[in-house]
Amino acid sequence: MARSDQEFRRYSAVDRAIAHLDHALNNIFCRQQSRRPYPADDQPEGITGAGARAAAAGMMRVNHAGEMAAQALYQGQSLTARDPELRRRLMQASEEESDHLNWCRRRLDELDAAPSRLDPFWYVGSLAIGIAAGIAGDRWNLGFLAETEHQVVRHLDDHLQRLPPEDARSRAIVEQMRQDELGHAELAESLGAARLPGPIRRLMQITSKIMTTTAERI
Ligand SMILES: [Fe+2]
Ligand SMILES: [Fe+2]
Repeated sequence: MARSDQEFRRYSAVDRAIAHLDHALNNIFCRQQSRRPYPADDQPEGITGAGARAAAAGMMRVNHAGEMAAQALYQGQSLTARDPELRRRLMQASEEESDHLNWCRRRLDELDAAPSRLDPFWYVGSLAIGIAAGIAGDRWNLGFLAETEHQVVRHLDDHLQRLPPEDARSRAIVEQMRQDELGHAELAESLGAARLPGPIRRLMQITSKIMTTTAERI
């Protein structure tokens, strides 16, 4: 018996929900592929001291948690974005975030360090925030994206100051990520991002501060 249009729509909505759940579980529990070369490949391993190694590992753990959150934000935002072209661009940018996730994880492995145990928590929280940003409308969604990426660029600048000078491998990764995040901010602005109100921007800064200080230790 032929299905009605409504039945088909309902079926495809379930399909989409399963695909998104699969994407989320894959992000949380599986290693992501990188489509680009590993930026650290040409750099020597310069870290020898235990203190420098622990400091670098703490920062790369924070960056890994941040990239986990970025995956979830993009996924949430693309779920609720209204314009199909915007959804496509968001998914495209999220592929670069997958590269970042892969690179941070590889660097943690090299430093014999584990990712934050709270990564699933960052993922679920960020997914909810991304969905909310999308519901607010495309201009606000883009505004949220642009502000997030600008804050990430400042955060990565801070890491470039604080990483051990001899850690050329982590530096190469962070520098490439910084360049990509700036590109994501500029993309959002070129697509018509609204400027977020000051209190929202400050709330975002506080939230990311809680995440970064926690992820460095746990
Ligand atoms: Fe990223
Ligand atoms: Fe980004």
